[in-house]
Order: sequence, then C-alpha cells, then structure tokens
Amino acid sequence: MLAEPLLDWYADAARDLPWRRTRDPYAILVSEVMLQQTQVARVVGRYEAWMRRWPTAGALAAAPVADVLGEWVGLGYNRRALRLREACAVVARDGWPEDLRTLPGIGPYTAAAVGAFAFGRHELPVDTNVRRVLERTGWTPARTPPELGQAVMELGATVCRARDAACGRCPVASGCASNGRVEVVPRAPARTRERFEDSNRWVRGRVVEALARGGPLPEGIDLGRLETAIAGLVADGLVIRDGQGLRLPD
Ligand code: ADE
Repeated sequence: MLAEPLLDWYADAARDLPWRRTRDPYAILVSEVMLQQTQVARVVGRYEAWMRRWPTAGALAAAPVADVLGEWVGLGYNRRALRLREACAVVARDGWPEDLRTLPGIGPYTAAAVGAFAFGRHELPVDTNVRRVLERTGWTPARTPPELGQAVMELGATVCRARDAACGRCPVASGCASNGRVEVVPRAPARTRERFEDSNRWVRGRVVEALARGGPLPEGIDLGRLETAIAGLVADGLVIRDGQGLRLPD
C-alpha cells in the first residue's frame, strides 16, 4: 500500500466532517450507523442535531423510543435506531466491551470503525468504498492505522468512485494494479431509478414521523403504499396495532 502519498493527499483533501473531530466512541458509533444508508451530506446536520439532543450513550439509552424514532426519520431503517439505543443501554450499564461486535446491531464494519476511529486500533473498516479501493489497487491491508483507514475511505468516496475512477488525480495511481484501466459501471437510466419520495422507505418514514408526533397518518399517499408500509413496520415490530389504531413501541 502506498501509505505515504495517500496520507499526504488526505492531510490536504480530507473533508472536514464533525465525526472526524472526535474520538468519543458514542459519537463515532452514531455517525457510522447513520452513514450506513445515508449520504455524508445529508448525515452532517442530522448527526449534529442528534448529538445535541443526546450527547452521551446514557442519554440515548434513557430516551423514549418514540423520540428516538422521530429523530431518525429519513435516515433509513428504523430498526437501526432501536439497535443503536439498545447498544447504548449496554454501554451505559457495562461500559464499552473489548469485542464491540457483542453489542446489539454492531457488525464487523461498525466494530472496526469504532475500534479504529475511537479506540485507535489498527483495523481497517471495510465498507463498499474501501472494498472497491482494495480490489482495484490490489492492496491487502494489514494492521492499518486509523488515519490510513480514513484516507482509504476518503479516496473511495471522492476519487476512486464506482462510476468514475479519476485515476488522473489519484495520489496512488502509480502503485495501483488498475491504474487507467478501471471499467466504469454504467449508471442506470434515470427513468428506471425510483424517486426517493415514491419508495417504501420514504412512506415508512412518514408513518413513523406521524406516530412520533402523536398526529394523524400522513395524507396524500396512495392507500396501497401506505398499507404496505404499515404492514412492514408492524412485521418488524416498529409499529404496534393497538385496537383500531397504531402506536410506536414503548
Ligand atoms: N462513511 C462511513 N464512515 C465514514 C467516515 N468515517 N467518514 C466519511 N464517510 C464515511
């Protein structure tokens, strides 16, 4: 791995993201769970609001489920928010475990990210971007220091992208097995891509948001879509049918 040019590039090019200014494991965990489905630009403000509202694992663990789901609206699978709260309850009670994967909802990626960025462990969190960089460059990571992990992540997010490898401005092109010959994945035609507002995830978000506010179900959504979303939320245990009505779990 061409660590030196990559680190030099990162020192210059790194985006200033709020979770990069902290080593608080709770803050890192919140950011990583949010980033699992939502783009960085959308996460920044939501992360800052979340940290203001619940600055510690203990604060989140003590928060009502409805508040947590309400704050999560639009960030993806609601179950993630509930697992995050459960993980924080364990942390508030027992402290951070040595093996972070023992916490609810924490898989190998998130465990490595918190391990590296909060606890300074030499583990490489392998997300989609990092995996792509490793595959293209032919690198095999061994004991990667946290800063290098961030740099690989940043390279995958901003230079070595799925649809545009940008080898011409890549700091490690000279040491890359695929330099200049990356097959670029064609983008799906626009009309086959579903608008986010038409997706089941969006409707589910509106339902949870409405219930968290204690208000009526959202209007203007096709009834079939609404029913599909509610059935999914009930099946996942995120919404409870209560007589004729719906409510969030306690
Ligand atoms: N995506 C996932 N984790 C990230 C991080 N720590 N910084 C930027 N983007 C990310």
